[in-house]
Amino acid sequence: MCIFAPIMTQDELFKVLVAHCKEYGFIFPSSEIYDGLAAVYDYGQMGVELKNNIKQYWWNAMTRLNENIVGIDSCIFMHPRIWEASGHVGAFNDPLIDNKDSKKRYRADVLIEDYLGKIEEKINKEVEKGRRKFGDSFNEEQFRATNPNVLREKAKYDEVHNRFVKAEQESNFQEYRQIIIDCGIVCPISGTCNWTDVRQFNLMFSTSMGSTADGSNTIYLRPETAQGIFVNYLNVQKTGRMKIPFGIAQIGKAFRNEIVARQFIFRMREFEQMEMQFFIKPGTELDWFAKWKEQRMKWHVNLGMGAENYRFHDHEKLAHYANAATDIEFQFPFGFKELEGIHSRTNFDLGNHQKFSGKKIEYFDPEENKAYTPYVIETSIGVDRMVLAVLSNSFKEEQLEGGDTRVVLSIPAPLAPVKAAVLPLVKKDGLPEKAQEIMKDLKYCFNCQYEEKDSIGKRYRRQDAIGTPFCITVDHETLNDNCVTVRDRDTMQQQRVPIASLRQMIQDKVDMNNLLKNLD
Ligand code: GAP
Repeated sequence: MCIFAPIMTQDELFKVLVAHCKEYGFIFPSSEIYDGLAAVYDYGQMGVELKNNIKQYWWNAMTRLNENIVGIDSCIFMHPRIWEASGHVGAFNDPLIDNKDSKKRYRADVLIEDYLGKIEEKINKEVEKGRRKFGDSFNEEQFRATNPNVLREKAKYDEVHNRFVKAEQESNFQEYRQIIIDCGIVCPISGTCNWTDVRQFNLMFSTSMGSTADGSNTIYLRPETAQGIFVNYLNVQKTGRMKIPFGIAQIGKAFRNEIVARQFIFRMREFEQMEMQFFIKPGTELDWFAKWKEQRMKWHVNLGMGAENYRFHDHEKLAHYANAATDIEFQFPFGFKELEGIHSRTNFDLGNHQKFSGKKIEYFDPEENKAYTPYVIETSIGVDRMVLAVLSNSFKEEQLEGGDTRVVLSIPAPLAPVKAAVLPLVKKDGLPEKAQEIMKDLKYCFNCQYEEKDSIGKRYRRQDAIGTPFCITVDHETLNDNCVTVRDRDTMQQQRVPIASLRQMIQDKVDMNNLLKNLD
């Protein structure tokens, strides 16, 4: 049995997690020996395995469980006109504001959102105080409706929130600045409220292709993978003889020149997306939007990281291409934030590509006996945000009986980078040879590690720290009875298991198909 170590603040927990990710080979700052490159990170030997497992879970859920969804892999470089058609050249901007004293630059909308988040936090703290005071008789709804402190903060929240939403809808950047000033939001560096006007800043990176430098061959690094799907819609529909409704899925890199890049891998300049565009008959989009919302939430909750850690956040301001949109938010160490977006994109993208390319992009519907430009529901999730969700949810510091502590990553077993570690108790007496035999058998089925250095206790701790579900110890008894001791990562309980049963035992716990079957 283990009990939790004294609870850290979320801020402390996040710092410890970032350090842990580096120490155990999950995530490194990019170009670290040259002092790093802001908001760019590399995945290490453990991180890449976790990331690949997440991608596999998504890819198989999309393309294997749905007979009408197929995958593609389009290029990062695309014709520059694509980004005019998609609206990214004209409208893919962040509202930025500078503090004149510190010369630091911020996203004006994020400053306001953080301010609102702090009010929400205050309200939640007040509610928790009430819960502690009144115990079992606590009625949260009534408390929120009557407590004067909560009501005061709520009124403040509503006033600022309403102004913010209106300013967003009207793209009124003057009003963004006014809200920041009226709320007394100061620069965290200078502590002053000496702000510039809000300006728009395009997030696309550009480079040039070929040998001429006259500007005519400027191309962009794609800021989303979605456009690679739209411009291949006709190719896939025709060659795959796809009938509407059908989907195209893609996993790939995207690039955004995020000015306020922070929170580790949550907001990066180079990141990876898993996107699926689902092509449908116009007029059916709100039904499909509801279906995909449900499907995608199911995919997340199925991992067992706690249904209470997810929520929908419906958009009040819609992107230029959408007629409905929601985020699936996850409880990160810094609060509920967007993990995935689900958008009803209408026929905006296909329609515009038709206009800009001059090529007809339609679907002939045999049931309707007419041609139309399909509507689209998009699901779009950041791989890196998913990695962060898994790591932050599974990171635990536990206090053990007897005063010991351990750090464990209780990563959902099918996603764990290493599934089993094979450990000879000592480095002699034929135990390493026996352990290697077991490795040879298991390595074709699972990613396994063989370790013989240090005490068995230290090796258990190392495997806990990378989230390995099983440790298999080979001892002297093994040579007589062909059994090993298997230690479970989460319960730390040990049991004696015949070597012949190992493969099935591991399979039962780590098989990704078990996850997928729950979705079907
Ligand atoms: N095609 C639609 C689209 O790109 P988005 O809401 O801008 O929509 C989708 O991005 C997802 O991509 C987000 O929910 C997030 O998980 C991820 N994402 C976006 N920007 C990111 C960044 N700078 N760093 C890491 N992940 C990011």
